Amino acid sequence: MNSLPENYRAAGDDELTARIEAVKKRMGKRLVVLAHHYQRYEIVSLGDYIGDSYGLSRIAAKSAEAEYIVFCGVRFMAEAARTLCRPEQKVYLPNLSAGCPMADMASVEQVNEAWESIKQVCPSSTIMPISYMNTLTELKAFTGRNGGLICTSSNAEVAFKWAFERGEKLFFFPDQHLGRNTSKRMGLKPEQVYLFKPDSQISKTDQQAIIAAKVILWPGYCYVHTKFTKDHIDEWRAREPKVKIVVHPECRQEVVDGADAVGSTAFIVRYVETAAIGSTIAIGTELNLVSRLARTHTDKNIFELSGESCAICSNMFRTSLADLCYTVENLDTIPQIMIDDEIKTDARTALERMLEIGG
Ligand code: 13P
Ligand code: SF4
Repeated sequence: MNSLPENYRAAGDDELTARIEAVKKRMGKRLVVLAHHYQRYEIVSLGDYIGDSYGLSRIAAKSAEAEYIVFCGVRFMAEAARTLCRPEQKVYLPNLSAGCPMADMASVEQVNEAWESIKQVCPSSTIMPISYMNTLTELKAFTGRNGGLICTSSNAEVAFKWAFERGEKLFFFPDQHLGRNTSKRMGLKPEQVYLFKPDSQISKTDQQAIIAAKVILWPGYCYVHTKFTKDHIDEWRAREPKVKIVVHPECRQEVVDGADAVGSTAFIVRYVETAAIGSTIAIGTELNLVSRLARTHTDKNIFELSGESCAICSNMFRTSLADLCYTVENLDTIPQIMIDDEIKTDARTALERMLEIGG
C-alpha cells in the first residue's frame, strides 16, 4: 500500500521475506497465513496454506489454534474467513484495497429489488437464492436469510442440486458465466436460463421468460476470465493437436465447451500435477497461477491460453511483500477485518450450508 511507512517501502524482497519468516517462526501456530492461488509467487511461497476460495474458507473455519489469520487474497475471501472463524480470532487482509470487481457488480439494493420483482412475477414458486463466494457479505446474509447457500467454483453443481431439492427455481448471483456453465452441466436448456436485467422494467416477454426459467442469473462477470475466447482455443488446437486445455468456470460458455477440462483454481493445479510428463497444457485462468505452474512443473509445457499477457487480476496482484510484512509485524495495532454482528449470523448460515455440502 502507498501509505506504508518508509522502512517497508524501501526494503528489498530478501529483507522483507526474512522479516516475515522471522515473525512466522516466533508466532508458530498462533499465526496462519492463507494465500490464494492467484497471489504473486513470493507471497504464495510464504503461505501456510495455499488454495482456492473454498479450500481456504474451510481452513479458516478449522484453524482453531490460530489467534491471527492473515488472508492474502481479496476482500470477499477475508470477509468469509472472518464470518466463519471464532469471534476472538483476528483476521487481516494485507492490502485493504484488494477487492473483486465482479463482487461489486451486484449491490444489496439491486439484488433485493430483483428478488422482490422475481417473487412478484412467480408468486407460487419456491425460489432459492445461491450466492457465489465472490459477493459482498451483506449478500451472503441475504442468501442465508432466504434459505439459500453460498457456492464457489469447486462446488457450484452440488449447490445447484441442493437448491433444486428445496425449490423450483434458483436465483444465482453475481457471475452469469459460472451460473450458465453450471446450468448446462446439469442438463438445463438455454431457454430455462434467464439473464436478469437489473435497474430496468420487467416487460411482458421478460415475465414469461422468468416464469419459464429454472435458473435466473445476474449479469456479473470476471474481467480476467472473460478475456479468453473460442478463437484462442481454435488457434491452440490448430497449432498443437495434442494440447490439453483446462479453464476456470468463470470463462464464457463457448470457452468452457471447447475445453478438455473445467474447474476451480485448485482443480487446475491438480490437473497439471497429475498430467503426464511432457504434456502441453494451455490454461484459461489468471496469469500468476499459470506462471507459477509453469515455473514449478518444468517437465510439462504450461501456457496461458490467450497467449497475451493480459489475464492478470490486478486486485490479487496488489498484495506485496511489504504489505504482508507490515501486517505480520503490526498485528495488534492495525485494522482487522470486521463484520457487523447483524449480518454475520445470516452470512455464516449460508457459508456453513456450503461447507456442509462439501467441495
Ligand atoms: P476459486 O474459487 O477457483 O479459487 O476462484 C476464485 C476467483 O476469484 C476466481 O476468479
Ligand atoms: Fe474477482 Fe476475477 Fe479477480 Fe477472481 S480473478 S478476484 S473473480 S476479478
